[in-house]
Amino acid sequence: MAILKIARMGHPVLSRVADPVEDPTAPEIRALVEDMVETMVDAPGTGLAAPQVHVPLRIVVFLVRPERTTGIEGDVPTDLTVLINPVLEPLGDERNEGFEGCLSVPGLTGAVPRFTRLRYRGVGLDGETIDRTVAGFHARVVQHECDHLDGILYPQRMPDLTKLGFVEEIRRRMEK
Ligand code: NI
Repeated sequence: MAILKIARMGHPVLSRVADPVEDPTAPEIRALVEDMVETMVDAPGTGLAAPQVHVPLRIVVFLVRPERTTGIEGDVPTDLTVLINPVLEPLGDERNEGFEGCLSVPGLTGAVPRFTRLRYRGVGLDGETIDRTVAGFHARVVQHECDHLDGILYPQRMPDLTKLGFVEEIRRRMEK
């Protein structure tokens, strides 16, 4: 187990399309995921994608703590989820705006519109199928992490960059 170095915005590994994992059950994939989880917990963060640790493979890890959920139907908490080769399917056109941060964009936060409802599928470390229909914060986390696999960082999803700023400044603005 090891804490890995996190790539920051501007590094080319964050802007390329990551490759599919051929064998999700391979020992080296399990070892990478263990390191990703350790890195995410240490940071701390709620999610991490393999390109963020300089590995261009289609793997994300995340968790949704109960206190982060929005209360809308389908916004369910989840313990640590390892999602390999994920496929996302937005359900409906409804989007909602929420502030996001990213370990690859340290110190900043920004308001990002995301699909409210989402079905996601993928494979776990034991080769098992993961197939969930979620909403709200849970759906937001999955969209953010999976964007990393296509070389997209959250500021690229922002229609209004006046809502991008340093965490302390945005917090101060929102308290007013
Ligand atoms: Ni991120």
